[in-house]
Amino acid sequence: MLQQVNGRSPGFGARGGESLSEDLREFLVGEAPLHQLDDLTKVNPVTLETVLRCLQARYMADTFYTNAGCTLVALNPFKPVPELYTPELMREYHTAPQPQKLKPHIFTVGEQTYRNVKSLSEPINQSIIVSGESGAGKTWTSRCLMKFYAAVAASPTSWESHKVAERIEQRILNSNPVMEAFGNACTLRNNNSSRFGKFIQLQLNRAQQMTGAAVHTYLLEKTRVACQASSERNFHIFYQICKGASKDERLHWHLPEGAAFSWLPNPDRTLEEDCFEVTREAMLHLGIDTPTQNNIFKVRRKPTSPPSGRGDRRLLA
Ligand SMILES: Nc1ncnc2c1ncn2[C@@H]1O[C@H](COP(=O)(O)OP(=O)(O)O)[C@@H](O)[C@H]1O
Ligand SMILES: [Mg+2]
Repeated sequence: MLQQVNGRSPGFGARGGESLSEDLREFLVGEAPLHQLDDLTKVNPVTLETVLRCLQARYMADTFYTNAGCTLVALNPFKPVPELYTPELMREYHTAPQPQKLKPHIFTVGEQTYRNVKSLSEPINQSIIVSGESGAGKTWTSRCLMKFYAAVAASPTSWESHKVAERIEQRILNSNPVMEAFGNACTLRNNNSSRFGKFIQLQLNRAQQMTGAAVHTYLLEKTRVACQASSERNFHIFYQICKGASKDERLHWHLPEGAAFSWLPNPDRTLEEDCFEVTREAMLHLGIDTPTQNNIFKVRRKPTSPPSGRGDRRLLA
């Protein structure tokens, strides 16, 4: 049974005892503090309110992962929590005899699926579905999983194969900044909103080492290139180019200093996603060399003049 979490969540007192249902009242006067409940299947009775109260109490205690049976509920902390994603913690979950006995974490999911592939004589594919509303943390979670697999699925013995593996892992991780630069944009709900769906396949060999990855993307919101809701932005890559190009590159890419593009609203907003260097570096690692990058970043002018009434509407190709 659970105990009241006095003062732990600001919402509690404000509602007043009278408005709480009988079930909720019982739930709140149990024995254990609500934020210590690490599996939502232990919530009794299971109602929207009891589940939300439990998650709220955990959030207030800076506990962002909670099990719900075999599902993991991840709350977006909306602040950096670097200690939650250290290589040491990855190792701890990877080497734990029973990772499910550790605190709920995305690394438990990663490790369990990894062991499921590993332990079977005929390996069976494992899938992780990361779902949630915009801004919930899906992209972040997918990145965490990829980093986790890049760390645990790479331990070849020879120096040569180690180099190969390092390259493969790095390339897999480098696919993220590239996909996000070209497919993510700042929206009202999320500064780094993915405007496409993706299915990432990580491939392991029989020794459970990472040998490659395939990313299938679908439903890219192409209309955003020409039309953005007010207060939203175009895809990050356009702003990255405008902000990050050198003098020479501006000349080469037909991007005059101070040029304003009416299809690039809100260019003054400073986002950490505006880092062109990261995208370029990642493209290089993926085998997209500088001449090819130059072709991608070059502004192409339409041979005819832009439609009247809409100003200088040039588009970066
Ligand atoms: N676990 C986390 N730790 C720190 N920040 C996070 C975490 N999850 C999400 N965020 C923050 O929330 C933002 C939105 O998350 P994101 O993964 O892009 O959402 P989604 O893909 O579900 O739309 C991220 O850019 C990041 O700033
Ligand atoms: Mg996303």
